[in-house]
Amino acid sequence: MTFRQKHLLGIENLGPDEIIALLDLAEQYVDLNRRELKHSDALTGLTQVNMFFENSTRTQASFELAGKRLGADVMNMAMQASSIKKGETLIDTAMTLNAMHPDLLVVRHPHSGAVDLLSQKVNCAVLNAGDGRHEHPTQALLDALTIRRSKGRLHRLNIAICGDVAHSRVARSNLILLGKMENRVRLVGPPTLVPANFAEFGAEIYEDMHEGLRDVDVVMMLRLQKERMDGGFIPSEREYYHRYGLDRDKLSVAKPDAIVMHPGPMNRGVEIDGEIADDINRSAIQEQVEMGVAVRMAAMDLLARNLRATRAAEPIEA
Ligand code: NCD
Repeated sequence: MTFRQKHLLGIENLGPDEIIALLDLAEQYVDLNRRELKHSDALTGLTQVNMFFENSTRTQASFELAGKRLGADVMNMAMQASSIKKGETLIDTAMTLNAMHPDLLVVRHPHSGAVDLLSQKVNCAVLNAGDGRHEHPTQALLDALTIRRSKGRLHRLNIAICGDVAHSRVARSNLILLGKMENRVRLVGPPTLVPANFAEFGAEIYEDMHEGLRDVDVVMMLRLQKERMDGGFIPSEREYYHRYGLDRDKLSVAKPDAIVMHPGPMNRGVEIDGEIADDINRSAIQEQVEMGVAVRMAAMDLLARNLRATRAAEPIEA
């Protein structure tokens, strides 16, 4: 089996062969999702619980749809961020849930490392749907699938990740994945949002959009994550848009066939011009959403296979 993981906690733990295996399987699910009858029985009989301790629209919806299309019993727990007091409460919740015998647990949490901690306390496969600023592995995988389908490959590409890198788990997971697949990644933004230590990931850092976007194959924009800022990161949104918002002029220095990506939700007129986001010839944003469902189906399918294999090898408990 190429995919060796028990959980999907981050891109950090994946080998390039596992990334490729997951994307290849996701391609099959892209085809399935385009058919009228979208059902498979990969997760039949299994229980999937979605625990989102932070707001989410597309990630939660696509995990739910992915589980349902694969035949799992899917439950969404309504977790309000305000009702958690970290540590103990999270573990208590996990233990309570664990007693209900879930097979797949999809977790989003505002604290980096919380999902990892939780995975150590339960007997099921855990998928990280975003933990603080740490990782968002399924987002990086769906971005990788979008890039591979558009560019025909996932290596030796020039990719610019622009904007609020400092607060972004999407940027981190993408940096790790794109690095593992041997691409050249540039980070573009003001020093307050692109700290110099990100160069450790092997990325080149640019402060100027016209320099950073020159000849790139992919322009990945990030949301300005105001909820994670405690003031003073940007002078004003207007000024930010002027210098870092993606518009036609800044995009013109990228390769003529460069694609534009954004994980959503977008702040139109802050990090991206609405007209570019909607331009079907340049924007891959809708395709990213479509790939999201397929990638999450593939991830849960692979984890469920490993879960079944482990359980089959274990003696049955009395
Ligand atoms: C991202 C997230 O939650 O990290 N959104 C998403 O999952 N589509 C990015 C963001 O919130 O800006």
